[in-house]
Formats: sequence, C-alpha cells, structure tokens
Amino acid sequence: MAQNWIPEGWKAHEARHLPQYEDAAELAAAEATLATYPPLVFAGEARALKAELAEVAQGHGFLLQGGDCAESFAEFHPNNIRDTFRVLLQMAVVMTFASKRPLVKVGRMAGQFAKPRSSLTETQGDVTLPSYLGDNINGIEFDSEARRNDPARMVKAYSQAAATLNLLRAFAGGGYANLRQVHQWTLDFMGRTPWADRFSDVADRIGEALDFMEACGIDPATVPQLQGTSFYTSHEALLLPYEQALTRRDSLTGDWYDCSAHMLWIGDRTRFEGSAHVEFLRGVGNPIGMKCGPTLEPDALLRLLDTLNPAREAGRITLIGRFGHDKVEEGLPRLVRAVTREGHPVVWSCDPMHGNVIKSGSGYKTRPFDRILSEVKGFFAVHRAEGTHPGGIHIEMTGQDVTECVGGAVAITDDALGDRYHTHCDPRLNAAQSLELAFLLAEMLNQQACERQADAA
Ligand code: PEP
Ligand code: CO
Repeated sequence: MAQNWIPEGWKAHEARHLPQYEDAAELAAAEATLATYPPLVFAGEARALKAELAEVAQGHGFLLQGGDCAESFAEFHPNNIRDTFRVLLQMAVVMTFASKRPLVKVGRMAGQFAKPRSSLTETQGDVTLPSYLGDNINGIEFDSEARRNDPARMVKAYSQAAATLNLLRAFAGGGYANLRQVHQWTLDFMGRTPWADRFSDVADRIGEALDFMEACGIDPATVPQLQGTSFYTSHEALLLPYEQALTRRDSLTGDWYDCSAHMLWIGDRTRFEGSAHVEFLRGVGNPIGMKCGPTLEPDALLRLLDTLNPAREAGRITLIGRFGHDKVEEGLPRLVRAVTREGHPVVWSCDPMHGNVIKSGSGYKTRPFDRILSEVKGFFAVHRAEGTHPGGIHIEMTGQDVTECVGGAVAITDDALGDRYHTHCDPRLNAAQSLELAFLLAEMLNQQACERQADAA
C-alpha cells in the first residue's frame, strides 16, 4: 500500500486540466451522490488484469487497448458499444492467431469522457467561449449554457459507464465472444475492404482448429475460455473529483482501488513530477498507464516510476509511448534503456495516434494511416534493437464506418473526411482501418514468434 496517501491528498498538488466549477455546493452534491453509488469494477478484477499485464511485462502476450478518443452522451447506443467491442475482438483474434500468445483486451470505454485541451477557449467568428472538455464536464454545442461546467454531468457519465460496462460484460461472457461466432463478427460494410477476406480465412482456420479440438473432447462445455473472453475497461483518470468519489477500500486486502475502471492512465499533459494526477494514482492498486511523449526525460521517467511503483510490481505500469512517426526511433530508445538499466518491470505500449495529428487541406483534424503505421513499425524496430518486448498498442478507434483518419486500403481521401466525421474530439480509425492495422500488427508479431522459435531451436 502507498505510504502517506489519502484519497483527497491530490488536492494539495498542482492540478492541470481540471475544470473550475462555479458552485462548490453543486460539486459537493455530485461527489456525495457518486460516493454512495456501487463501484463499477471490483478490486479483484483490477488485480486479474494486473496479473495478465505482468505476463506481458515478462514478454508473454500483447496488450490491445482501444476505443473512442472521447465517449459522448449523443453517441451512446448499444449498437455502437457492440460494434466497437466486436472490432476489438476481431483484432484480438487476428493478432492471437499470428503471435500464438495471449492478447489482453482493454477498452477505452465505459468512462473515457474527460479531455485535456490545448486551449482554454474556443473562438468561432467573434464569439469566444470556454473549450469543450468532455461530456462529463460540459457540452460540445457552441453556446454559453452548454459550455458551463456542470458537476451533475459526472452522475450522468457514471450511469452511462455503468450501462456500457453491463453490456460489455454480457458480450464478453454471455456467448457473443464464443470463438464459434467468429464468422458472425464481420460487419456488413467491411465487405468493401480486402481485409474482410483475410479475416474470413482466419475465421475458417480457427473453425477447423475448434473442430479438431472438439473431436479430441476439448469444447466450450469443458473449457470455459472457449465460451467467452476477458475484457477490461480503462480511461484517462483526468477528472479527479469523479475518480476520488469512486475510490473504495477493498474489503479483502484493505488497499484502495479506483473502482471507476480496471485500468487508469495518466495523460501526457498531467504526468509531470509533483502533479495531482500522479499523486492520486500512486495510491490506488489498479494497473496504471502513463503516456510518454517526446518531452519526457529518462531521469524524470525513472523518478515517476519510483513514485508510482516503488515495489516494482510487474503489471502495475504500462508505459504508452506517443512520439509521432518521425520521433519514435529517436525518442523511445533513451527511455527503454533507462528503464531496462534500472530494472523496472513495465509493459511497453505504443500509441501511434496522438503524435500524428495534422490539419487536412479541407480543414479537418486528421491522422494519416501511413504515419500511424510508420510509428508502429518504428516502435517494433526500437524494441528489436534494444532486446525488449514490444508489449502493446493503444488506439483511438470505433466500430463505425466513419471518415476521420485519411488513408488505409479503403483509401479515405481528404475530400471524403466531411462525409462521416463524427468524433467528439480526435479522429479515430474506422472499423476497416482498425482491422487493417491488426493484420499489419499480426505480421510483426508473427515475425517475432518466428524469431523466438529460431532462437529456441
Ligand atoms: C488521449 O489519449 O486521448 C490523450 C489526450 O492522449 P495524450 O495524453 O497522449 O495526449
Ligand atoms: Co485523443
């Protein structure tokens, strides 16, 4: 358990990107309501995820973490949840098949609302208003009432997170994720991507493997892993009043857990030394992610690791690099060497999204698919050169057929971005682009598996 830590201790530290609320009584009322609500996840589940991540930190397996940049009240619909979940499942199947190693599946779902923004205000024409900070804080509509920070939105976000998580639990355990369903997961509009055929081939081969195993007496009735899958939730622990209100002491161990999600991460803008966000997360027992951008120095990283994981527990920390396609090969090795030298057990994950945002000619914020891919390749190349394990991918994606990132096999052009640009914040990979990325990751994982075999021989 962390030393000298209390759930509200972060308030004595420098907090960036937290909203100001006009009415302290309104905020206190929302916090008090949340404090009486049931936890969304159990400490034991967070520990199970930590154990899975500990395996990855030791070089066995791969973390797939993905979902919306920002969930929204407007896009809350069971079909959206189902579609994102099934694209993540498809990606996991493709990657497991190639790597022959377990995939740890974590959604950026059921709580990923609050956003750090580069500017405090937004100007349209001659009107300037506070920026949109995420649906759990204010509204995206450009009017002064919507842009008011409203603590009651935290309670609405909790309800949406609870309903989302309930559906995810049903999908993961209630038969939908049964490997026998693998063919049914294909989305209609994926027919347009060449990767849909490749997925169908993988599904056929999995079906054959299951037939064979069934003939040997191994089937979903005897092996529960074939019936469902484990699926976890995560979000950036940005809105600390919400996180604190959902932080509970585990009755089994007496330790504190942030029960708003299984895994929480610290963003690139709030991971500085002495930050309120670092102070809060050092005291909860969940697995913790931390974004690592180009401005993070190796020494600062090591001090942060000592603060967040003094016991050097494997599975506790996932470092999520987000350098940009042209900076990863220069920036990542320094961090990898420092962490390896000091013997900190971490999962190295790659966020190829946040360092690769550009403004398109048509004025949309977008991410070119080839730059995303190039950062992923750079990430694998660095770990190969350093002899460390490339342990995961962190992406902003959706199961919907949106047009937000340019490129990919179903080449989304600059001109097409306006067709279905629905994101509440950053541009996401659509379903076809996500599957395409999974196949490209599968190739890299497969190469790694072959090298492993050759080394063993
Ligand atoms: C995000 O993951 O949505 C995000 C804001 O990332 P970062 O902290 O890496 O900028
Ligand atoms: Co984002």
